[in-house]
Amino acid sequence: MQYGRFDDARREYVITTPRTPLPWINYLGSEEFFTILSNTAGGYSFYRDARLRRLTRYRYNNAPLDQEGFHVYIRDGETVWNPGWQPTQTELDRYECRHGLGYTLIEGGKNGVLARQELLVPQGDNCLLMRLTLRNESGAAKRLRVFPYVEFCLWDAMDDSSNFQRNFSTGEVEVVGPAIYHKTEYRERRDHYAVFWADRQPDAFDTARDAFLGVYGSPARPEAVFGGGCTGSLAHGWQPVAAQQFDLPLAPGAEETILFGLGYIENPAAEKFTAPGVVNKSRAEAMMARYADAASFDAALEALRGHWSALLGGFQVSTGEAKLDRMVNIWNQYQCMVTFNMSRSASYFESGMGRGMGFRDSCQDLLGFVHMIPERARQRILDIAATQFPDGSAYHQYQPLTKKGNLAVGSGFNDDPLWLIAGTDAYLRETGDWSILDELCDFDNDPQLAQPLLEHLRRSFRYTCTHLGPHGLPLIGRADWNDCLNLNCFSEHPGESFQITGPSEGPVAESVFIAGMFVKYGRAWAAICRHLGLDAEAAEAETAIADMEKTVLDAGWDGEWFRRAYDAFGHVIGGRECEEGQIFIEPQGMCVMAGIGKESGEAARALRSVEERLDTKYGIVLLQPAYTRYHLELGEISSYPPGYKENAGIFCHNNPWIVCAETELGHGDRAFEVYRRTCPAFIEDISEIHRTEPYVYSQMVAGRDAPSFGEGKNSWLTGTAAWTFLSVSQAILGVKPTLDGLAIDPCVPADVKGFSVVRRYRGAEYRIRVENPDGVQKGVRRMLVDGKAADGNLIPVQPAGSVVEVLVTMG
Ligand code: BGC
Repeated sequence: MQYGRFDDARREYVITTPRTPLPWINYLGSEEFFTILSNTAGGYSFYRDARLRRLTRYRYNNAPLDQEGFHVYIRDGETVWNPGWQPTQTELDRYECRHGLGYTLIEGGKNGVLARQELLVPQGDNCLLMRLTLRNESGAAKRLRVFPYVEFCLWDAMDDSSNFQRNFSTGEVEVVGPAIYHKTEYRERRDHYAVFWADRQPDAFDTARDAFLGVYGSPARPEAVFGGGCTGSLAHGWQPVAAQQFDLPLAPGAEETILFGLGYIENPAAEKFTAPGVVNKSRAEAMMARYADAASFDAALEALRGHWSALLGGFQVSTGEAKLDRMVNIWNQYQCMVTFNMSRSASYFESGMGRGMGFRDSCQDLLGFVHMIPERARQRILDIAATQFPDGSAYHQYQPLTKKGNLAVGSGFNDDPLWLIAGTDAYLRETGDWSILDELCDFDNDPQLAQPLLEHLRRSFRYTCTHLGPHGLPLIGRADWNDCLNLNCFSEHPGESFQITGPSEGPVAESVFIAGMFVKYGRAWAAICRHLGLDAEAAEAETAIADMEKTVLDAGWDGEWFRRAYDAFGHVIGGRECEEGQIFIEPQGMCVMAGIGKESGEAARALRSVEERLDTKYGIVLLQPAYTRYHLELGEISSYPPGYKENAGIFCHNNPWIVCAETELGHGDRAFEVYRRTCPAFIEDISEIHRTEPYVYSQMVAGRDAPSFGEGKNSWLTGTAAWTFLSVSQAILGVKPTLDGLAIDPCVPADVKGFSVVRRYRGAEYRIRVENPDGVQKGVRRMLVDGKAADGNLIPVQPAGSVVEVLVTMG
């Protein structure tokens, strides 16, 4: 069943009922000011850091769901309704929500009145704009009362939701004409305030929540709206809000438009006040002046559309399969931008208070983002590297506002260092900008310890070499990619964090997955060394990699698949002798991607085992059989009921590893089949089962052991975005950036006759046409670059600004 449809021409998903299985959200803003917005106008805004600079309040896990946001109430006689249905839930005569790239348009109609509520965050500015258009389509004159409403958050979202003894006394506002200034804590250390404004004078306002909703009122039934209107309340402590009232007579056929804004303003210390206690509003006034009329919204929307066209123009495919094209060309890339911006911090499943930027997460997010804005990727790499420790290990997370490593979680996740090589290698292959390796980056955020990025990569590689266990496999530390496989944790007390309980380093527990990573990204490191003329170092790395390959095929091979790990007692995890958890997906994907056992047959055997043992109709589950009880020696993975999360859920992030692995072996049919099963656009028609947004990936889909098999959770912020984009663009469609240029190496289903790709790369535009006359799955027989036969399938780097025609014949 579907709850909407794709509108590819407008690059929108059109939701046709407000009763989606879960709120379906969008992200507005891609620079510093962000708003999360649901299809019923729920959500919240923040500046840069969803925890430390939260502008509006949102109650997660509330019942009813999704009540706070950017709601507009319309009172028409005795009927009160919202264009997005929530929070009054008054039945609408018509409803449509269009989530576009960086904007959302919600249209609701009731009793002959049509309301369009359009929201976006303009490029280059720190505000949310909301344009409301009301049209009287009835034959009779209307006297409408319209109320926009937002509830301010007292900045630190964590403190805001817990420290009530203080916070009920700190709230402060100022009201000047159509602007409501939220200035809690501005009197002391804050240099920032928020402003909510309208482009015209309201008839009344409220800034105290008690006054607007009523002490026992709710967003579903605000007293001011249902009763006699706003009262001009000024918040002192308690809950500051911005509510306004507009009395609008609307003749038949008439239309009225009001433009609202919610802005974030910073003032330098010396310019905070214009009089004692009075906020300096000049920057806010300048912001309001930038959006003085409703047409400025159109200009901002146009600019946004242009911005996205340019960004997405870097990779556009035409295959004749609409679902594939819309994912590659629009939604997958869009999600890559969102994950790049948010890491795992703020979504409808991530509260914005828990995690900052993850070290491994952000490095992987780069893989799907780097082609869009390489300059931002560059800065991100340098920020991440600065949270590395001198021994090559790394803070597992850091806060985006401070860019400082997060002490509470610390380090000890032994895959982290290698992801820095992965991210940097992707950047180098995309840009050819070798100067990044010379950039000085702190270790442990300490400028005294700064070294060139190259040295950071070197220490990343060496960290694994110097942290090997009894079998010669890498020690796992607190965990590797699978944060829930906690082999040194042994937690017996509820509430202890699986990630930070126990020693960060055990001398025994080893990871086959990290071994696979070491081979794959070690090769990348060696290639970087070769490129720089560091031949001795490259050779040394290659020897270590070859040794590791042997170790994997020995201690890491179980006979029909790669083992997962060795626990703290040296027992196999992910082997046939295990009662539960006999086979895991991660090492099959990573080791085959690394090419381990490709010649000798283990790689193909491992992928067959995946197909035989882990496949389901909704994707590949993480492990089998699921753990049915808590295993002290395994940690969080066994804390989940069977079929959920890392315990045999379909963890979408590592499905594309299998896609990439299958293409390594030339299996185009199978690769595409794996891609298709988790791909949102291909499962749109089971939205009642899948439940999360059909335009983005979820982190997890419940596995076949779960009662809710097929149900998605944790949509949006997942490494799945980057990895699927990589798998489809590079492994299946085969457009691969290398250190020396673009290689074309497709691996497609045999029935694919051909396809075209436009790829921007190092400033040139490549128009690539691939033909597959013999119906093969892999192999390039011939390649013409601007009509001339090329040597092999590598296109040498072309001058920036040029347009290059490439004709590839598979066979
Ligand atoms: C985390 C990743 C981790 C994955 C698997 C995600 O929630 O953000 O860092 O690799 O789970 O455990």
